[in-house]
Order: sequence, then structure tokens, then C-alpha cells
Amino acid sequence: MAKPRAIVTRRWPSANEERLKQNFDVVFNESDVPFTGDQLKDSLKNCDVFMPTVTDKVTRDVLSVEGRTANMIANFGVGFNHIDIDAAKELGITVSNTPSVLTDCTADIAMSLLLMVARRVGEGERELRSDNWTGWRPTHLLGTKVTGKKLGIIGFGRIGQAVAQRAKFGFNMDILYWDPYDLPEEVVSKYNATKLDTIEDICKESDFVSVNCPATKETFHLMNEERFKLMKPTAFVINTARGDIIDEKALLKALADKEIAGAGLDVFETEPNIPSELKTLENVVSYPHLGSATIETRIAMGDTAIDNALAFFEGKDLPNKVV
Ligand code: DGY
Repeated sequence: MAKPRAIVTRRWPSANEERLKQNFDVVFNESDVPFTGDQLKDSLKNCDVFMPTVTDKVTRDVLSVEGRTANMIANFGVGFNHIDIDAAKELGITVSNTPSVLTDCTADIAMSLLLMVARRVGEGERELRSDNWTGWRPTHLLGTKVTGKKLGIIGFGRIGQAVAQRAKFGFNMDILYWDPYDLPEEVVSKYNATKLDTIEDICKESDFVSVNCPATKETFHLMNEERFKLMKPTAFVINTARGDIIDEKALLKALADKEIAGAGLDVFETEPNIPSELKTLENVVSYPHLGSATIETRIAMGDTAIDNALAFFEGKDLPNKVV
């Protein structure tokens, strides 16, 4: 039997590409340049399974292309806000994602941003690299102590809980959280976590606010001007989820007006284009969307996407079906 045709929009780790070759009649994007809307549409007309990722805007218009042959989208990544899921459902297209395998690495990156921004590590490294370090002194680059502080987690799902695990057991932090869903008692008690009634309460109480919820219509600009104003002037915001959960203009204003002490960001509203102020403010630490960027995790993400696609063609239940 002929192998299903697959189109993969970006380069994947070589172990995954080998496995794709074994199981699919696969076309890779050798240049690794993100596809245009027209290329996305063409792809959907020329394969059985389409394998996009976070950089591909798979809109209703793209999904509605005439002559579409792909009925399965195996996304490389857990977040699927770049795919119009309602349209996919209406059009009868199956969509899968890659949860679980990137939980630990994303939580590690959240903790690293938290530590870097609180302890002014970016500033220190810039000072050293520019040969401006004059030596140890009692008042040099004094940051904020992390151990024992209050961490408010917005979105207490897999990644939020993994952040809590590190913060609670590595840094003895008090865990506060907000989530629209009620979590099992054993989860809450494991971290001795306190659920606060509102996001406003999280903003008021926390020394660090970590954004760990998915990007949805409801969470768009969830961290806004009003909520930044409620935060302590000594508090920091950390975002490893999606850029548009934070209103970036409001964040810049809060940083400039010293309403908050700093920000650690792995994701941005219009990445890879970042407002110039974020590149110059000393109290901002920014990473280029590195949450899942370890070789182990990226291979696991590719394998998960492949497992989902194979299950689809074998008529089995998908391990990670979105719709
Ligand atoms: C995802 O999987 O959604 C991440 O943002 C990419 O690491």
C-alpha cells in the first residue's frame, strides 16, 4: 500500500525526519523559511497529512482551500492557537498536538527567566562581556531574593504545576494559583497551593506572576494595564505561554512607570518582531521562544506528532486529538 503523503512546514530533528521518511511519502521544507499563506494552501492540496508548527498561521481561509486533500493536521507543538480549530472542526479536519513531552523543559525555562530577572543575571553578564566589571562590592547589582517568596501561577495545568514543583521544592516558594477549573485535591495539596478567587488577587498578592495558561479568546491580553497596576512595584511577571496573553504595550508602560520590577519573557505578541524597548530595558530578560528547545524534547515532540498521524491512518484513537 502506498505510504500517506506528508508535508512538514519546518525542519525537524534528524531522528524525526528519518522516521517520517520511513512511514510517509514526505516533503520537507529544506529552506526552513516559514511558509506563506499560499504555500500553506498549496500544501493542504498536496498531502494526506499536514504537519505545521507554531509559526504557521493555519487560518479558516487556508483550511477552506479548494481541492484540499489533507484531512489530518499533526501539529508539532502543544499550543494550537495558530490553527483555526473551529474551522477545522466544521470542515471535518482532524487536528492533534504534542502535550506532556515539553512540560518539564518549559517549566525549566520559566524558572530560569524568574531567576535571571530577579537576580539581574542578564545585566551582570552584559557588564562582564562589555569589560565594565570593576570587581566585587557590597552594593553591586543587588537583586531580589527568590527563595521563600510568593509565586502566583495563572493557569495551573501541566506546565503551571511543573513550575510549582520547581518553585516549591527547589526554592521553598509559596504557591498561589488561579485557574478556571477546579483541580483535584491531591494536586493542590502536593504543592500546598492556595487557589485565589481572581486574577486580580494573584496580581496583588504575588512576588512573581507566572503566566501558564493557553492562548484563547478568553486569555487574550489577560495581563493588562489594570492588572499590572495591581501588582507590587517589587514584583515580576514571567511569560512562557503565548505573547498575546500579555498586552505588551501595557507591560512596557508598567515597566517604564516602575509599576512592576521586571519581566521575564520567552514569548511575544508579534514574534519574532519584538518592540525595541524590550531589547533595551535592563529589567527585562527575553528569550527567543526557547521553552521546548532541548534536543530530547524536540525529538519527543516530533515523535508524538508522528504517532498521532500514524494512528489516524491506522484508524486508531489518536493519542492527542484536539478535534
Ligand atoms: C508549543 O509547543 O506550543 C511551544 O510554544 C513550542 O515550544
